[in-house]
Amino acid sequence: MALWGARFEKEADERLNDFNSSIRVDQVMYHQDIRGSIAHVTMLSRQGIIPEKDKELIIETLEEIEADLETGKLAIAPAAEDIHMFLEAELTKRCAKKGAEGAGKRIHTARSRNDQVALDVRMYGMEQCREVIKLLRELIEVLCKKASEHTETIMPGYTHLQRAQPITFAHHLMAYVEMFCRDTERLWDAVRRCNVLPLGSGALATSTYPIDREYTAELLGFDRVCENSLDGVSDRDFAMEMAAALSIIMVHFSRFSEEIILWSSWEFKFIELDDAFATGSSIMPQKKNPDVCELIRGKSGRVFGNLQALLTMMKGLPLAYNKDMQEDKEALFDSFTTVKLCLTTLIPMLETCRVNKENMRQAAAKGFINATDCADYLVRKGLPFREAYGVVGRLVHSAMEKEKVLETLTMEEYKEASELFEEDIYEAISLETCVKNRRITGGPAPEIVKRHIENIRKTFF
Ligand code: ARG
Repeated sequence: MALWGARFEKEADERLNDFNSSIRVDQVMYHQDIRGSIAHVTMLSRQGIIPEKDKELIIETLEEIEADLETGKLAIAPAAEDIHMFLEAELTKRCAKKGAEGAGKRIHTARSRNDQVALDVRMYGMEQCREVIKLLRELIEVLCKKASEHTETIMPGYTHLQRAQPITFAHHLMAYVEMFCRDTERLWDAVRRCNVLPLGSGALATSTYPIDREYTAELLGFDRVCENSLDGVSDRDFAMEMAAALSIIMVHFSRFSEEIILWSSWEFKFIELDDAFATGSSIMPQKKNPDVCELIRGKSGRVFGNLQALLTMMKGLPLAYNKDMQEDKEALFDSFTTVKLCLTTLIPMLETCRVNKENMRQAAAKGFINATDCADYLVRKGLPFREAYGVVGRLVHSAMEKEKVLETLTMEEYKEASELFEEDIYEAISLETCVKNRRITGGPAPEIVKRHIENIRKTFF
């Protein structure tokens, strides 16, 4: 009979049990469940709700259970309904063996699985956020290091995937660093809002025992207790927020992956992945494929799907707990697992990739990406920008017809376009000058990007 079987005349159908069970997914929370129980009984005994000796036996036994789970001496029963039921049954069994069955049977005083599961998922989610943050910091570190090696590596910057203006590889990488810093902040933010204790909400309306929720919160390291018990058991905002933050992370990984895929193509050849982080083809002997990036791009779909699943699962639920909410864990945990998996491969892949400076430079030398600078030159000589823009537009047109670039036009050709052009035009449109002259905060000039890297290192590490 199930722990809740007392009011039933029949055993539950096996098919119902299978369908109802969440142990496959929630067993990863055994540590949180045990920590929560230890804090709960500590509080119960301090309040005189359960005897001191029962508390001691419960804590000792729960710690034994945890150690046995960790060493594999105790296996989680796949037929159990969920991790909470499994641990309570195991505790009761072990207490009985020690001649104090009553102790184990006291653990669920003033508690419901509804506040218990809300507690466990919050604790587990916050821990997972911290793990992702740690990996994101590693990623940021690797990118800052790569960037610091390439503050002078000129490459074309793009808009519409058309060559636009010269930038550096460091400037490009640091754009991703900014995204990953925001991702880290978003996760901290989710943790901050999640750090509220739901335990003590009971099934939905707290309890009649004189429990001390503030004390439990203190024991578990929560910032405060939730102010409304209905909200305490039925709030899954934290899960949606975490899933949303993880989705945005996947958007960033996916965009980055897309660029790496392009950059490692024969058409670009800006970077080359290390052999250890690329794959081959079973039929085409020459192939070297960026599978890691493609998988990351592909996996973003399941993380977005998990967010959608959570939003949809929650949107029609009346207060307070409903069993629909059991579905929260599979979606949320899968998002954490996926993001961590992506990070553990992305980091070494980026660390080991080689940068082909010459190809970046060559690509930057074509496509008239210094045309804006050419117009700005005329502006400095007094021409209004729109007129300068027109002069350079015509210049680009005629250069294209002659299969030339701005750097290879003769002084006569420049003079024909405008009398304002002088010898110093060549210096003004050199790619190095174009990059160096953009020394506004946020710009690609080496000194500015170096300062950015320094700031990140100072504030983030
Ligand atoms: N396994 C359940 C879940 O994950 C635990 C809470 C069950 N509560 C209940 N009243 N049936 O949501």
